[in-house]
Amino acid sequence: MSTSDRRGLHKLLTEDIWERYCDFDPRCFELSDAEIVGERLRHSLGSRLAHWLQVTLMTVLVVTGYALWSGNYGPMNVPIWDGYYVAFGLHMWAGIFIVVVTLLLFPFYHVFVDGHRQLAEYSDIVLGINIGLAFLGVREYPPNYHKGRRTWDVIKEHWMVGHPAQKAYFWWISIFVALVALTGFGIYREMATDPVWWVVWLGIPADYLAVETLKQLHLVLAAVITAMVIFHAYFGVMKSNWDFLKSMVVGTVPYYEVESPTEDGDD
Ligand code: HEM
Repeated sequence: MSTSDRRGLHKLLTEDIWERYCDFDPRCFELSDAEIVGERLRHSLGSRLAHWLQVTLMTVLVVTGYALWSGNYGPMNVPIWDGYYVAFGLHMWAGIFIVVVTLLLFPFYHVFVDGHRQLAEYSDIVLGINIGLAFLGVREYPPNYHKGRRTWDVIKEHWMVGHPAQKAYFWWISIFVALVALTGFGIYREMATDPVWWVVWLGIPADYLAVETLKQLHLVLAAVITAMVIFHAYFGVMKSNWDFLKSMVVGTVPYYEVESPTEDGDD
């Protein structure tokens, strides 16, 4: 039985989401005197390679996508090939690879190898409301929240808390990458004279939408993804997150520990 079933929607809406996170999760207070105990692996080599591959592919897609959209090919305008063909080839290959990396490779390492749980849990909802209100300046951040994200719970064998926006980012980036790829393959299927079977299959939206509509959707989705990545990168490079940024390079992060059982045994 999940924690949310046990606690009930009524209790969530009437009590828990209004509570300060630390009243809900007493492990917060335990952290006041906590000291760093060492370095712990946060991102395996596979995750790190897949993550930075995503960054590279995303950069190629944005640069070549802008070139195709605007007709300015810059250094891609080399003799022999026209800039259009260089940009088009790079865009197609980067598009194919980012689907594989974002929808298969990265989730495999991040979720199954590194054990970062990505499903929304009861505590995420309570924490999300707390963090959202704190971000708006209406409430203070839960005490020791910064430490909590760097704390290993030795009983649950998991990081004590995550950032709800990061979990949401994981899902939304996957959904939008899938949609942008489907619209892209739809456009390609309409342009190609004899598309290979998997392009026909992935370009299925072309059965239902005009190529002009597909192009508009592709452009809007690309803009949304770019904006999301800019925000994600902005938070990633903030000084307060440099240890996490470093962990995306070296794998490990300096961490704290908690040992106390919480009311919920399983979240
Ligand atoms: C220069 C750009 C980027 C920077 C600086 C950056 C930085 C980071 C950092 C530091 C983390 C680890 C956070 C943690 O340990 O809790 C992370 C996680 C992640 N990044 Fe990036 N990133 C960038 C671009 C991207 C791109 C382009 C994508 C996907 C298209 C992406 C997808 C993700 C995902 C899905 C996670 C895991 C989030 C989670 O569930 O915890 N990142 N990123």
